[in-house]
Amino acid sequence: MATLEIKDLHVEIDGKEILKGVTLTINTNEIHAIMGPNGTGKSTLASAIMGHPKYEVTSGSITIDGEDVLEMEVDERAKAGLFLAMQYPSEITGVTNADFLRSGVNARREEGDEISLMKFIRELDSKMEFLEMDEDMATRYLNEGFSGGEKKRNEILQLMMLKPKFAILDEIDSGLDIDALKVVSKGINEMRGEGFGCLMITHYQRLLNYIEPDHVHIIMQGKIVKSGGPELAAKLESEGYDWVKEELGIDDETVGQEA
Ligand SMILES: Nc1ncnc2c1ncn2[C@@H]1O[C@H](COP(=O)(O)OP(=O)(O)OP(=O)(O)O)[C@@H](O)[C@H]1O
Ligand SMILES: [Mg+2]
Repeated sequence: MATLEIKDLHVEIDGKEILKGVTLTINTNEIHAIMGPNGTGKSTLASAIMGHPKYEVTSGSITIDGEDVLEMEVDERAKAGLFLAMQYPSEITGVTNADFLRSGVNARREEGDEISLMKFIRELDSKMEFLEMDEDMATRYLNEGFSGGEKKRNEILQLMMLKPKFAILDEIDSGLDIDALKVVSKGINEMRGEGFGCLMITHYQRLLNYIEPDHVHIIMQGKIVKSGGPELAAKLESEGYDWVKEELGIDDETVGQEA
């Protein structure tokens, strides 16, 4: 078992505090969902964990099995087993999807222990078939001209090829048609198990109908304000966030970042 531990994390962007003390522990074999109104810091949390240079951690800690993640460079974080599926995956012209995946796989292996081309291709083929992806997606430039849903499916292909210990999936369900939502969920459920922990950022219950989370958290004003089980997501779906705000005495005007 491995543990990703986030303790009292404070993060600033351009001198403005966005995360105001996030504490969250994710073990492998657990799926966590984090929900919250727009602009409350969900993607900021994902970026801070991955080490995006724009997001400055001013205090708090992130560790994997006690090892300081904040001390690691971005590539070291990937090697330590972290993976982020971005809310808006970027396009990289000139790098094919297959090449990108292969270097990603190799970057996570020790030098001299690179995956053989044959083995890589075999695995890529089988994962693409599993995710019902067209073969030409492998030879196209990374995400270039991919539809919104194709990009999300491609993030799951990366997840399945790279097999991280911990994945953060930022709105992996946004823009997916109903069939694609099922395929993407199938991919995540396939990863589920001993060596894999996941934090899914989502706005909607529908994703959680396919992937039942062990824990659900609500983030508001840069803090996790409530945690529970799947019933919490169901309640948000039917009632929105007003009851949470009321419970916490949060003024509607301040729910975003202007608090
Ligand atoms: N690079 C940036 N530069 C300036 N402000 C930023 C940047 N990234 C995030 N912010 C601000 O930080 C706040 C939190 O943004 P974040 O993207 O984390 O929200 P979110 O919870 O993911 O929202 P959504 O549900 O809309 O995706 C917002 O007010 C946003 O404008
Ligand atoms: Mg976001």
